[in-house]
Amino acid sequence: MANKLNIAVELADSHLATDLIKTLGAIPNVEVVQWFDSMGEKGALAVKDAQQIIFIDDNQDSKQLSTRLALLRESFPEAAYFVVASDQRPQHIIEVMKIGVAEYLVTPIDTKVLHNAVEDIRVKLANAGKIACGSVYSFISSKGGLGSSVIAVNTAYSLSQKKATSVALLDLSLQSGDASVMLDVLPETSISDLVKNFHRMDASFLSAAMTKAFNQLDFLAAPASPNDCQEINGEHISAIIELGKKLYDHLVIDCTSMQINEGSLEAFDASEKIFVVIDLSVPAIRNAARLCELLEKHQVPSDKVEIIANRFIKGGTLSLAEVEKTLEKRVAWLFPNDFKSVISSINKGVPLLKFSPGCPLAKNLSSFAETLTKQNLNEKFRGIRGTFGRAI
Ligand SMILES: Nc1ncnc2c1ncn2[C@@H]1O[C@H](COP(=O)(O)OP(=O)(O)OP(=O)(O)O)[C@@H](O)[C@H]1O
Ligand SMILES: [Mg+2]
Repeated sequence: MANKLNIAVELADSHLATDLIKTLGAIPNVEVVQWFDSMGEKGALAVKDAQQIIFIDDNQDSKQLSTRLALLRESFPEAAYFVVASDQRPQHIIEVMKIGVAEYLVTPIDTKVLHNAVEDIRVKLANAGKIACGSVYSFISSKGGLGSSVIAVNTAYSLSQKKATSVALLDLSLQSGDASVMLDVLPETSISDLVKNFHRMDASFLSAAMTKAFNQLDFLAAPASPNDCQEINGEHISAIIELGKKLYDHLVIDCTSMQINEGSLEAFDASEKIFVVIDLSVPAIRNAARLCELLEKHQVPSDKVEIIANRFIKGGTLSLAEVEKTLEKRVAWLFPNDFKSVISSINKGVPLLKFSPGCPLAKNLSSFAETLTKQNLNEKFRGIRGTFGRAI
């Protein structure tokens, strides 16, 4: 079950319908159909899918509108009805709202108002368990600079390339916040704006705080100034993630390296998987062991914690077997070392998967994201093949 919304538009004005469908099409994860010749009123058999939102026009006569709605409701009792109208008389709007429509949208429709109204419905449906909540993945480096941000950004980008899949990347790496540089976005808002106005927290507010990085990839930036990080607590992070899960198919969280705080614990709690990034060096492995111990102390279930090794070089000085013995855990994935490609993509502010999709690291990252969604992690193949194509 995805959190996709099915929307039907049944408007007499074909130009208005075309414009509306175009605007709705820009909202991630919605499928819009147009109904002609009162198809909706003819019932569910005349149309293919159950619709969660139905747009109809206002014919300025509330009685007729009421009859039309009653007819539609027989076939689509669960749908939310949005009325599109030019009439701005308050009395008329009240009458229409009394019939039980969810939204009254005055033409020309404000894109932001429309977007928020649609997302509010998505949240309501997710709260009622009628559509799926997104999956959450957290990334944390066991030592600074091991690649958590590179892997999180590229995983988020890769997940967002799948049709009708909405992804949000949350930068909880509050002190450094490199993800915005890697995506080459200049966010106007950040987590600290959400926190300062926490009482207003809802789907529209969260959506408005997100920066659009790519078509199906939104980004929530870390605060611009490290001073603003102090006021962010676990309750804030938990609320952002819970709401984010209702708006997006996947949330990818880039956490502050090495340390655990109230916020990251909330992220771990909500995560399906927590990826601890190491490289095959003694300090990274020692820190990873400490980090895993700390996670255990905080009752983070160990089966959620996966070790992933970045900058992997075949035949390095430390063997995988030695690392796994120390950590008492299998290394779940190996990302090849490719400094030149990574640094060029970072400097250009384009995810590696877009910048150089054919390079081995990009292919590896894409296969990692695919493995995540298929929940195939911990199968024999973990990203790199050795001699004669055997899985390492
Ligand atoms: N697979 C890789 N191959 C080669 N170099 C890499 C690879 N992944 C990351 N790097 C290099 O490591 C650097 C640090 O990566 P990144 O910023 O993702 O680490 P981080 O763990 O998020 O660091 P921080 O602790 O600062 O948040 C990158 O600038 C890049 O140069
Ligand atoms: Mg980082």
